[in-house]
Amino acid sequence: MNNPPFLSNCSAGTIREAAAALKAGHLVAFPTETVYGLGADARNPDAVKRIYQVKGRPTDHPLIVHISSISQLEKWAIDIPEYAISLARAFWPGPMTLILKRSEITEDFITGGQETVALRVPSDPIALALIEEFEKISDSAIAAPSANRFGQVSPTSSADVQEELGEFLSESDFILDGGNCLIGIESTIVDCTSHRPGILRPGFITSADIDSLLGIQSKSEYVPVNVKFSGSFEKHYSPKCKVVLGDKPLQGAGFLALRDIETPPGMLRLASPTTVEEFAQVLYSVFRGADRSGLMTLMVSAPLGVGLGLAIRERIEKASRGR
Ligand code: TXA
Ligand code: MG
Repeated sequence: MNNPPFLSNCSAGTIREAAAALKAGHLVAFPTETVYGLGADARNPDAVKRIYQVKGRPTDHPLIVHISSISQLEKWAIDIPEYAISLARAFWPGPMTLILKRSEITEDFITGGQETVALRVPSDPIALALIEEFEKISDSAIAAPSANRFGQVSPTSSADVQEELGEFLSESDFILDGGNCLIGIESTIVDCTSHRPGILRPGFITSADIDSLLGIQSKSEYVPVNVKFSGSFEKHYSPKCKVVLGDKPLQGAGFLALRDIETPPGMLRLASPTTVEEFAQVLYSVFRGADRSGLMTLMVSAPLGVGLGLAIRERIEKASRGR
């Protein structure tokens, strides 16, 4: 296949062009504040099928439907609990995905046959403009997983998307460039199908954020995962090199740690983020950089604490389990 056009000038004109491509059944990779997504018309089964082909992902893994605002919630979901509305009001647009009971228009090819749907309003201005434009011309929304091959690290720049998927996309597809993702790890996924919320995937929005919004009675919790949840597959998020946790010397290995932690002798420092937020932002690009440098091993000294630190450790632990 020929490479897709790469649009770095995301003007109103190019957003319209990309929305028209979605309407015509093509794919558009676009930036979000978390990671880049690979988008298709959420009501077009053939377009959605191509997402699975391009990613090499099993078709029973459900996709997130990206909508432009809370006003679209009731189109895709039913029986929405009051607390889910509160979460959406507080954290949308933003890095949070809600799992809700699906409506009639949400078909099996989006949910992998499950009775629930994942919905998110991203805050990235290019993502929002694209979704708004597409909703205007289609009566639909954008289904999008992270724009990486199945089991690989999520892309946090348009160059990453090109590297991951360029050869699998066609000339009629698009990659929109919005620079580096601000957050750098995937959205927090909150299951809203029972009487209180449960966090299925930790992220930038933390259980403390959710608990303090909803009050002490409505405590968020990790729920046992009994739904198809590809993030829980062992080989997810893995770079090619071996990822190990720690800060002890290991000759020739790459090293990632917060700035105040010294590089052990004989190791190659890959980044020195000054905050936990910055750590999340650079994590996946360090994974990719380690592979590009041909390193066999990357040692990561993971940030401590709950909140975002926990979300980062979850990614590193998964990566350390290897592929
Ligand atoms: O930040 C993000 O969420 C990014 C950007 C592009 O929005 N998207 C993303 O999509 O990470 P993906 O497909 O790579 O990961 C979404 C996760 C998958 O693990 C999927 O199994 C889970 O969400 N998921 C989707 N629908 C679900 C559902 N109905 N119930 C439970 N999990 C669901
Ligand atoms: Mg993914």
